[in-house]
Amino acid sequence: MDPLYFLEQNYNQYVATFRSPGGKLPEMMALKLHHTEEVVRNAALIAEGERFGALESFTAKAAALLHDTGRYEQLKRYATFRDSDSVDHAVFSYDIVRSEGWLSSLDEASFPQEELSCVGGLDGVIEAVESAVLWHNRREVPPQKDASERTSLIHLAAHTVRDADKLDIFRVLEERIKSTDWRKERTAFWNLSPDEKPSAEIISALKNGDSVDYNSIRSLSDFILIQVGWMICGLHFETSRKLCRERGHLSFRRSFLKELTDCPVIDEVCDIAEKSLSAAFVQSISS
Ligand SMILES: [Fe+2]
Repeated sequence: MDPLYFLEQNYNQYVATFRSPGGKLPEMMALKLHHTEEVVRNAALIAEGERFGALESFTAKAAALLHDTGRYEQLKRYATFRDSDSVDHAVFSYDIVRSEGWLSSLDEASFPQEELSCVGGLDGVIEAVESAVLWHNRREVPPQKDASERTSLIHLAAHTVRDADKLDIFRVLEERIKSTDWRKERTAFWNLSPDEKPSAEIISALKNGDSVDYNSIRSLSDFILIQVGWMICGLHFETSRKLCRERGHLSFRRSFLKELTDCPVIDEVCDIAEKSLSAAFVQSISS
């Protein structure tokens, strides 16, 4: 059996345990399931664009499929997706994936044998998928400890999931803004004020290309700016930046930020993101 299909079957059976007797998944869980499908789709586009080998492609897509496994149990148990009020959902997902044993039940014979032996067998694949799940919401991916193929696979899976996740988070936010009266319905935006100015701390971090401390988010503008920051230094693969350009995520945020604030630095920060996303800029710093 195709190993990704095997994992999808197991994952869907697990998700089915949260369905009502009529087969309906609670709405918030259904949104997470849709998010997961889109993250897998983005991971497949990244794998294709970056010309991953067969084993790399499987590992990246498997990690994308499993990255938010803990969201269903988190909502059931704590009635929130807010990690600070419940559990770190990446750790929770990692624990569930391990305890369910889906990865260790994969059939070694269904993988390309030569590629598998280069990463230390099935154990290497399992370590890569589990690490990508565990690290997917961290501020940074831990440094690569050596240049072995096994370690490289771990980092490839982690970066793919993080990029694929961010690309879908861009979509989710845009859909929410388009479908909500965002000036009034603050609860749809984590009770962040649409009227407050962007924080100076976030603006200066973005200008310096530093990663931003999410605890400094005070306003809806800050939240949007964090995502502009991902476009400056948070997308690892050129294919991810290309998808971001093609989907118009930066221009959406530039226009929306201008509806929120007349702060003159918006264009300045968005111009930095535009430059960072452009293929020519990346080529010029890597050559
Ligand atoms: Fe997540």
